[in-house]
Amino acid sequence: MIQTIRGFRDILPGDTDLWQTIEKTASALFEDFGFQEIRLPVIEKTELFARSIGEATDIVEKEMYTFADRKGDKLTLRPEATASAVRSYIQHKMYAADPVKKLYTIGPMFRRERPQKGRYRQFYQINAEVFGIASPYIDAQMILMLNELFQRLGLTDLKAHVNSLGCPRCRPEFQKALTAFLASKKEGLCSNCTRRMDKNPLRTLDCKAPGCREALADAPSPLDRLCEKCTDHFNTVKTVLDQQNVDFIVDKNLVRGLDYYSRTDFEIQTSALGAQSAVAGGGRYDALVQELGGPPSPAIGFAIGFDRLVEIVSQLTTKQEARGPELFIITVGAGSIEKGYLLSSGLNLKGVRTEMDFGQRSLKSLMKRADKLHARHVLIMGEEELDTNALVLRNMTDRTQTTISADDALNELLTRLGH
Ligand code: HAM
Repeated sequence: MIQTIRGFRDILPGDTDLWQTIEKTASALFEDFGFQEIRLPVIEKTELFARSIGEATDIVEKEMYTFADRKGDKLTLRPEATASAVRSYIQHKMYAADPVKKLYTIGPMFRRERPQKGRYRQFYQINAEVFGIASPYIDAQMILMLNELFQRLGLTDLKAHVNSLGCPRCRPEFQKALTAFLASKKEGLCSNCTRRMDKNPLRTLDCKAPGCREALADAPSPLDRLCEKCTDHFNTVKTVLDQQNVDFIVDKNLVRGLDYYSRTDFEIQTSALGAQSAVAGGGRYDALVQELGGPPSPAIGFAIGFDRLVEIVSQLTTKQEARGPELFIITVGAGSIEKGYLLSSGLNLKGVRTEMDFGQRSLKSLMKRADKLHARHVLIMGEEELDTNALVLRNMTDRTQTTISADDALNELLTRLGH
């Protein structure tokens, strides 16, 4: 038997109900905040991700699904959506009419990580990105919007972790301090961090190896070296979050795994998922649009781990019974199948959830099937009922029966079933 590959999974009927509810809740909320949906391809040129996420990140170094297509072009299954959103913003000159653009997108991402609870190789994200606004108010608003989504979904056990990574003015000084600190702790660092120490010292703060965690406990924080503008920016974000009662903490070592961030970065964390504590993450990426060939344009965004969100929401809710058909039509004998089929699809077209059998089994076994499907009504349409122009309609809840005319069955059923 052929099965799914490791880290990939089916999201089965029944389970998809919750996915749809969350999707609807998120898009309704985002649209109230002025966001529009964008749909982006799942494959892009490898270079797009290497240049934006950063060459010396875990994602680019070891997690991307990259391949050469038949012409030899180097392509990658997208590990995230921000780079594609930026590419699209530039490619379609979305900034031309109005530099401010608010986009959201929902879809699968691919990272070849070690699968475990809450971590898959194909996973889904709900992304929101804002282009063209430098104001700290928008940083606070993105976190507010995330917070509101989680509240609407009934989640209370979540905390926003917020930090500032500084800007090209103050970051170099912080990096110098960090590099000096790392040099003094070199012996305790893992081989990955030792290798990246000079190229990308920030990544070491993100390392999960216990030795590195211990060695870096007192590492300098970007917060200690913010320039005046970054300090003001961060203070406004914090003040506004307080004013709007968003529960957050300042997490001075929150650096996140992608290189494009500057100033505010944030993560929404939970204790409900074991090691995979981040349900959402994001931040400012003010330099990226220009780095990828667009005009200077500030930007900020976040991505929610959809699979993780579903997991914690489903821990709170009991699974709904599958919605059974409103009507199950039983045909008995070859002669009634055509009439049954025409009636059944006629009702489907009128918005009545109707199922039928195709006359293969006994009345008794079909009544059993109707019960199993949780059908609310059954219509018995045997040759005898057709001959006498009296179809039997049975209410499966109170077990009462009535007859309806075969000639006008569609209209009678619409009335009786309340349509
Ligand atoms: P990220 O932190 O790499 O950020 O991913 C965002 C969220 O996706 C994570 O917090 C997590 O919930 C979920 N996630 C990541 N990897 C996996 C996985 N293997 N399995 C299940 N869920 C996963 C980004 O992707 C940025 N593009 C976010 C962003 C948007 N920044 C600005 N705009």
